[in-house]
Amino acid sequence: MLKELERARNLVRSSGRVVILTGAGVSADSGVPTFRSSEGLWKQFRPEELATPDAFARDPETVWEWYAWRRRLVLECSPNEGHRAIARLLLSRDGVTLITQNVDGLHGRALRELQSEGVGRDPDGTVREPGATLELHGNLLRSRCSVCSESDEDGPEPGGGGNDTPLPRCPSCDALMRPAVVWFGESLDPGVLDRAMHAAQDADICISAGTSAVVHPAAGIPLLTRESGGSLIEVNPEVTPLSPFADIHLRGAGAEILPRILEPPD
Ligand code: OAD
Repeated sequence: MLKELERARNLVRSSGRVVILTGAGVSADSGVPTFRSSEGLWKQFRPEELATPDAFARDPETVWEWYAWRRRLVLECSPNEGHRAIARLLLSRDGVTLITQNVDGLHGRALRELQSEGVGRDPDGTVREPGATLELHGNLLRSRCSVCSESDEDGPEPGGGGNDTPLPRCPSCDALMRPAVVWFGESLDPGVLDRAMHAAQDADICISAGTSAVVHPAAGIPLLTRESGGSLIEVNPEVTPLSPFADIHLRGAGAEILPRILEPPD
């Protein structure tokens, strides 16, 4: 394992363009349940039963109640050393793109934490532009109108939860607001997906961390790097459908492994 870690670290160091694809496993070390674990359940529901446009059309109160619970849950969690290592890389060198399937906003919080600690500032005080973060499945802390394109960056108080709070409505067209996430059966934002695919095709290395690699199109992104001649590193305690294609599979927790392979250049 030590040798593999060293190999991975050297590969990252020598790669001009780096793509990191993350999934729920990276937030597991912060206490956010993964999708396909039993702790991911809320009441008697599986995510697949609530994270759909049909569920929202049928029962928006329950869907909002679930998201209110998830918002509270992620706001009680903090970014872990894996999130921080990724954020440090985004802030300290060029050519890094983060593609995440996570909707918990923890990558963004890690970035802001490090920026407030002065990371990513040049000696003359200039703040460096971090590499892009592409949230493939949206962000549950934000909301958008279910009909028009109006969005609310901060996300309104969701209501629901069995109290009398009315569900949030669009300030422009008065339709119901909904969480700004991609639901099962919905398409990803084509612009975001396009940027992610191009970044993966152009990358010298892709690190796939904490994802079961079963939900497409995200699951196919690391293969784009492989197909265009780049290397693939997988960070996951388990074997996934991506494992046979990985040049290096580091079996362990993201919070432990990512800081060891992403250390920025001195
Ligand atoms: P999953 O819950 O499917 O997979 C989590 C992965 O993380 C598994 O492969 C675990 O082995 C791994 N894992 C667990 N603990 C870990 C740790 N401490 N460090 C690293 N890895 C760990 O989550 P995703 O792959 O993110 O889509 O799921 C992909 C998408 O499916 C989600 O974005 C969501 C869901 O349906 C939408 O909501 C559209």
